Amino acid sequence: MIRADGLTVSIGGAAALRGATFSIEAGERVGVVGESGSGKSMLAFALMGMAPEAARVTGSLLFDGREMACAAEADWAQLRARRAAMIFQEPLSALNPLRRIGDIVMEPLRVHLRLSRDAAEARARALFEEVGLPEDRFRQFPHEISGGQRQRVLIALALACDPGLLIADEPTTALDAHVALRVIDLLKRLSAERRMALLFISHDLAAVVRATERLIVMYGGDMVETGPTAEVLAAPAHPYTKGLLAARPRIEAAPRGADGRRARLATIPGTVPGLLSLPTGCRFSGRCPLERTGCAKSRPALRPTEAGAAACVLIGAEAEA
Ligand SMILES: Nc1ncnc2c1ncn2[C@@H]1O[C@H](COP(=O)(O)OP(=O)(O)O)[C@@H](O)[C@H]1O
Ligand SMILES: [Mg+2]
Repeated sequence: MIRADGLTVSIGGAAALRGATFSIEAGERVGVVGESGSGKSMLAFALMGMAPEAARVTGSLLFDGREMACAAEADWAQLRARRAAMIFQEPLSALNPLRRIGDIVMEPLRVHLRLSRDAAEARARALFEEVGLPEDRFRQFPHEISGGQRQRVLIALALACDPGLLIADEPTTALDAHVALRVIDLLKRLSAERRMALLFISHDLAAVVRATERLIVMYGGDMVETGPTAEVLAAPAHPYTKGLLAARPRIEAAPRGADGRRARLATIPGTVPGLLSLPTGCRFSGRCPLERTGCAKSRPALRPTEAGAAACVLIGAEAEA
């Protein structure tokens, strides 16, 4: 359904997304993971034709076989109304506080599908049921419902025009852990029942493991590793993926100190640098514990690993030595 080849988004001469190459099949659930600033949202916006106005999009992006990388806004608007929907990172600000949630979900049905008021209401009520929203919420305002229910409203809204691809950008980040699990299970069920592809973006590895079957690990706008989710995380090849796994909070594993507090967990030192300070070669150089001379200058290609593919000079180095 989607095939990106060398997809790049440059802002002021710096690439916020650098040569992304991957495909998404109908009904497939793909995870995107990486620290804040890794370019996950930029990838999502590129797939929705919503890159910042100042950005230059290059490379190829086939959507249903149609080249969209340089498509006109009118073509994108049509695609967004019919084929691709996105749940944005800020669930609260996405809902107009002055409108009843039933009306919010009816709007795209009336505008894009041109349904009558009655038909739109019937369809919206069916969507409420599909996403597990109680019927009596239909006439309520966003502030009257819980965070998990608001996320379900956004999902209902995204489903309104029956998209082939749903992009969920950090859909569980603002939710309590148990509510997050239920939202993930809802997204999985919807993807299966509707044969809808799901691009699930999160900085939370546990959420991505539960939600997806294939994984893209991003760092500094680069895809650094990819492959089946479980396999990549069982045998990560890229130093960055290994670092993410080591930094993952594991409550049960963290021993308590004498003061009863959990020990500080290992994290990757530093943060993702700003776009203009990223190295030209491997963007993880500078933070990488296994960095070699030359890493900052030359960019490694994605090469096959046991689980999938990773972009690091060390991949295959042992075999060649
Ligand atoms: N509109 C924008 N203009 C300039 N730089 C941006 C813009 N949006 C994001 N960026 C930069 O692009 C990089 C990736 O950001 P983003 O995709 O939001 O990361 P993530 O979603 O993984 O946290 C960051 O360095 C960020 O500062
Ligand atoms: Mg983001």
